[in-house]
Amino acid sequence: MIVRITGTGSMLPAKQVTNLEISQIVDTSDEWIRERTGIGARYLSTGETVASLATGACEKALEMAGRTAEEVDLILVASCSSEMLLPCSACQVQANIGARRAVAFDLNAACSGFMFALNTAYAYLQAGIYKTALIAGSEVLSKIMDWEDRGTCVLFGDGAGAVVLEADASTNAGRGLIGFVQYSDGSKGEALVCESRALHNPYYSEESKNTYVQMDGREIFKFAARQVPVTIEEVLQKTAIPKEEISYFVLHQANARIIEAIAKRLDMGLEKFPLNLDQVGNMSSASLPVLLDKLQREGRLDRGMKLVLSGFGAGLTYGACVLEW
Ligand code: COA
Repeated sequence: MIVRITGTGSMLPAKQVTNLEISQIVDTSDEWIRERTGIGARYLSTGETVASLATGACEKALEMAGRTAEEVDLILVASCSSEMLLPCSACQVQANIGARRAVAFDLNAACSGFMFALNTAYAYLQAGIYKTALIAGSEVLSKIMDWEDRGTCVLFGDGAGAVVLEADASTNAGRGLIGFVQYSDGSKGEALVCESRALHNPYYSEESKNTYVQMDGREIFKFAARQVPVTIEEVLQKTAIPKEEISYFVLHQANARIIEAIAKRLDMGLEKFPLNLDQVGNMSSASLPVLLDKLQREGRLDRGMKLVLSGFGAGLTYGACVLEW
C-alpha cells in the first residue's frame, strides 16, 4: 500500500512580532537573536488557540487534497501547549470541521510531535486500518514561555500546520512515505522541561511550581547537531536511498546554526535545507508542516521529488522519514 501526502495547510496567528519589538520586552537585540539563531520574527497568539489554529490548517490541507471532512478516518494533533486538558485538541478539530466518522486523539512528543504523528498515521494506513488521515502540529507556546527569560522567550512562536495522508492503491501513486526511524531518550529529559500545575488534593499538597519552559540551550544544541545527522543517515541507509537523491532536507526549525551544522556533517549544500524560522521562529510541532506547506504553495515541490523530514526536541525525542512527493 502506498501512503502519501495529498494536501498541506497552515495557519498562523494574526500578529507577527519582530526582534526589535521583543527587545522592548526583555534585554536582547535583533543582532543577538539573528546571529545566534537566525530568527527575525515570530507570530504570537492574540486569542488564537491550539484548536483554532489546527482547525484552520486542517481545512486548508483538506481543500488542497480535494477531500471532505466526512472522508477523514483519523485525526492526530501533535501539541505540547494545548489550552484544554480535556477534551483533546484533535476532538475539538473534529467537531470544528465536522469530521463525524473520524477517530481523533492528541500526541505529545514536543518538537518531534508532528514527525511521530505522521509516522503513527502512516503505520495505521499501511496496515489497512484507515484510509485517510489528517495530521496537524499546532502550538501556542507563548502561553508557556517565561516572558522575563530572554534565553527562551525570544526563540519560540505560535502557529499550526497540517497534512492529509492517504492510502493510495493506484498504479501512479509513486512511492509516498518510504520509511522512518524514531527514537526517545528520557534520560536526558531535564534539558528542556515545562512542568504542569502542582498537585493539590485532600491528602497531599506540592509547593507551587515553575510552569514555564526551562531549557539548557547548549545541551539541546549539542544533541541536535550530533544526533540528527546520524538519524538522517540511518533512515537513508534503511530505505536504500543515496543522500544525493534528496531534493530537500526539511528539518525542524529550531536554530539556523543547528541546521548549518547538520548540513555540514551530512556534507550537503545548504540550498537543500529550506528555512522559514526568520519569519516564524521555533514553532515546535508546527515547524515541519508549516514549512512543508510553504514549499508546496511556492511550487517548490514536484511529484517524484524525494524529501527527508526530521524533527527533534524535548523528551529528548528525534526521528526522520524519507518520502517521495
Ligand atoms: N539576548 C541577549 N543575550 C542573551 C539572550 C538574549 N535573548 N539569551 C541569552 N543571552 C546571553 C546569556 O545570558 C549569556 O550571557 P553571559 O555570557 O553574560 O552569561 C550569553 O548570552 C551567552 O549565553 P549562551 O546560552 O551561552 O548562548 P548560546 O550561544 O548558547 O545561545 C541559544 C543560546 C539558546 C540561542 C542556543 O544555545 C540554542 O539555540 N540552543 C538550542 C535551543 C533550541 O533550539 N531549543 C529548542 C529545541 S527544539
